[in-house]
Amino acid sequence: MLEIAGVEGGYGSVQILNGVSMRVARGQMVALLGGNGTGKSTLLKTISGLIKPWKGSITFDGQRIDGLRPDLIVRRGLVQVTQGKEAYPGLTVEENLRLGAHVRRDRAGVRRTLERVFEYFPILGDRRNQFSATLSGGQLQMLCIGRGMMSEPKMMLLDEPSAALAPQVVLDIFRIIGRICREGTTLLLVEQNVRMALLLAEYGYVIRDGVVHIEGPAEKLIGDDNVRLSYLGGTVADRDGGKNLRH
Ligand SMILES: Nc1ncnc2c1ncn2[C@@H]1O[C@H](COP(=O)(O)OP(=O)(O)OP(=O)(O)O)[C@@H](O)[C@H]1O
Ligand SMILES: [Mg+2]
Repeated sequence: MLEIAGVEGGYGSVQILNGVSMRVARGQMVALLGGNGTGKSTLLKTISGLIKPWKGSITFDGQRIDGLRPDLIVRRGLVQVTQGKEAYPGLTVEENLRLGAHVRRDRAGVRRTLERVFEYFPILGDRRNQFSATLSGGQLQMLCIGRGMMSEPKMMLLDEPSAALAPQVVLDIFRIIGRICREGTTLLLVEQNVRMALLLAEYGYVIRDGVVHIEGPAEKLIGDDNVRLSYLGGTVADRDGGKNLRH
């Protein structure tokens, strides 16, 4: 569904992506992991057309999309879910959600999708007429995922949907993300919550210094020493049974 080959890019003259290659098959959920500042968000912005790649190709659903305008990429069915803080505070919950459907002309279909979003996130339905400024952080995050659903995309890019949320809300968000994928939307998920992301996703990529450093099936990455030590809060003692620390 999505194929990225040798993508280089960055900001101004500063190169951040140094030749990223990865693929996401239709219907799959793939986790994109890596430390702070390694280029994960930059890659998502490059895929969704917010910044232009300098080199390489991005193919979505069989067609090249690198260099296309972001709104045309949305029309092709690829949507990036923005962070909760990017909702419009002076618009109501429903108005914010409807913005996500601006590429659609079928009013009845939009209404059906809106009801589907309210079914996924009942709290948004309860608050549909309130300004989004009154929502909590978790509710704003739900609003942004819901807004992403409003164009009925084939694929969604999610940038740290669980960031800064209480553990119970994180579970809710992950449950919904799992459901969105099961119901047919392909997902690329950037997460700091590495363990949770690898439990949910089928395949994972770890990027470092703007290139893919490690990749593999999720269950393999969970057991990988390098991944455990660097990203799962493991310690050196985990690696050699503690021998290093006992002398
Ligand atoms: N608009 C920008 N202009 C210039 N440099 C930027 C811009 N946005 C990000 N960067 C730089 O690009 C590098 C990669 O940032 P990016 O946001 O892609 O990392 P990330 O992997 O998403 O990190 P995090 O886990 O902290 O979200 C960083 O060094 C960052 O400072
Ligand atoms: Mg980021």
